[in-house]
Amino acid sequence: MAVLPILHYPDDRLRRASKPVGTITDETQALIDDMIETMYAAPGVGLAAPQVGVSQQIMVVDISVGKDPEALYVMINPRIVKKEGEIKEEEGCLSVPEFSEGVPRAASLEVRYLTREGREQTLVADGLLAKAIQHEVDHLNGRLFLDRLSPLKRDMIKRKIRKAIRQGSYE
Ligand code: NI
Repeated sequence: MAVLPILHYPDDRLRRASKPVGTITDETQALIDDMIETMYAAPGVGLAAPQVGVSQQIMVVDISVGKDPEALYVMINPRIVKKEGEIKEEEGCLSVPEFSEGVPRAASLEVRYLTREGREQTLVADGLLAKAIQHEVDHLNGRLFLDRLSPLKRDMIKRKIRKAIRQGSYE
């Protein structure tokens, strides 16, 4: 197992739509283990494969950040099939460090995915878990939470990041 480097905005690889996983191989399992370790090391409540430079539909979510073994979800080829309600809460991203903003999300959802054992699974989620799932599914589609902000807020953050990059204080 290894902690992988996390790509930061504006890396182009965060903008690609990732491919569905066909066969779950030993390599897939090793990547999943590394992603879990990387998420906990960050620490974060979720991580998607594109954030570590792998364009595959794999994401890990654990809103307990490793405290509760039952809170860990590994989702392969996830599809959100139902969304209900709306919430707008502060959200951050390991690929956009040091910034957080209120992001509109569905309050609850139903997601279908494959477990790492290749079993089809359906999960109904709300609260922080629903928010984290939507955030990570966005990553699989090449989207960042910045894309869901008002143009004004988005431009403000992008400007700050560009400035920080110029000053060498953003990495
Ligand atoms: Ni993120």
